[in-house]
Amino acid sequence: MSWAIGSLEISASGALIISGLLWIVLIGVFPLLVLINASPSPGPKGCRRLGLPQGQSNLTDEYDQKYSEGVPSDTKDENGQPAWRVKALFTYPLKSCGGIELQKSDVVPTGLKFDRQFAFAEETANGWNCRTLRNAGFQRMALIHPEIWVPDPSSPDYDERRPEMQSGGVMVISYPRLAPLGLWGTMIKIGMTFRILATRRKFSVPLVPSQDSKYPVVPVSIWKDTPRAYDYGSLLPASLHEYLGFKPSESPLTLFRAHPSHSREIFRNAPRKEQIGFQPSTAFADAYPIHLLNLASHRDVAARCAAAIPRLSIRRFRANIIVQGPEAFAEDHWKRFTIGGTEIHAACRTVRCRLPNVDPDTGDRHKAEPDRTLKSYRRIDDGDRTNACLGMQLVPSVEEFSVSVGDEVRVLETGEHLYMKMLAPGEKVEGV
Ligand SMILES: *[C@@H]1O[C@H](CO)[C@@H](O)[C@H](O)[C@H]1NC(C)=O
Repeated sequence: MSWAIGSLEISASGALIISGLLWIVLIGVFPLLVLINASPSPGPKGCRRLGLPQGQSNLTDEYDQKYSEGVPSDTKDENGQPAWRVKALFTYPLKSCGGIELQKSDVVPTGLKFDRQFAFAEETANGWNCRTLRNAGFQRMALIHPEIWVPDPSSPDYDERRPEMQSGGVMVISYPRLAPLGLWGTMIKIGMTFRILATRRKFSVPLVPSQDSKYPVVPVSIWKDTPRAYDYGSLLPASLHEYLGFKPSESPLTLFRAHPSHSREIFRNAPRKEQIGFQPSTAFADAYPIHLLNLASHRDVAARCAAAIPRLSIRRFRANIIVQGPEAFAEDHWKRFTIGGTEIHAACRTVRCRLPNVDPDTGDRHKAEPDRTLKSYRRIDDGDRTNACLGMQLVPSVEEFSVSVGDEVRVLETGEHLYMKMLAPGEKVEGV
């Protein structure tokens, strides 16, 4: 008896040897893999992870019917908390990738601390261009999850000479492990199915390159701006290039970190320096430092596309601050308000693209929703009659403060909004 494997004819005794070898691999190599992969990975030395503990969220009850309706402002709920308050906070260190949920956050001139300080970019004929979930093929970025680890002097491993401390902490980036084809790949798949092998890979990058670091500083295009940024390309593992669909050897992909000289001052609908004492700026956010959503407004949208997507998470819309209390779309008319006592300008409404069609938990892109639903009834701003609005773009009246879940929200002034577009009619920029 013989089997044909490719062009090879293998005799019965040969097959016996091969299956014997297979068993040796299975019995010998598997436990080794288990040992390598099951060892707990404690994270970068001398650091603590920023954000809520794994598996916890202030949005676990986001689908509760009670959030569909507003409640009176300036009142307290049954637990004595202000009825209008911050429900949840998120920072997105790596543009278009997973968010980090926080209980409290420092706010710096570019928005919530660490927000959009990093971005993936692809090299084209015109140089480096930022890439987002909007770009074809890049919806997989939804499953790339950054973690921020900051130096923790109370950790027994804390030592100022460590590279982790010199760089002010590290960002750990994890992404799904792809199994190669063939026997090895099958074994890896089995290992992942039984959770003996890690299903995700990870690597880390410095939060702030130290003085003597050798990362090139090169221009990268984002919308109409071309700030210079640290090129972390040398730190990207081959498996990440593969995960995003590129051949590692010829991949046009890199990771940028905003450079201190990076300044994307924003004008358009933002308050001016004469008014608030500084000109607002952003790192790799699209347009303004902070994005706010009202939970009741989102519930309204979610209810209208429930047939297509039964549980539409507010996380799809990637807000930094989610508030509860105001009735649906009250925020459309806010001009100035306070969060925990800090005055905030609502610069303009958030004009939506199709990015929320990507499910942050699976990376799947829905063909139509929620974009279709939004366009059907939320084209409400005379400044842009073709696109829908949901949420507000914010500029704080001070450059630095901190915001916490539970902070009270009070409206100071309401009025008209008229969105000013980034691009002139007919104007096109790369990557959008
Ligand atoms: C938010 O979530 C954290 C973590 O689960 C919890 O400790 C905290 O009490 C929650 N805050 C509110 C206001 O619900």
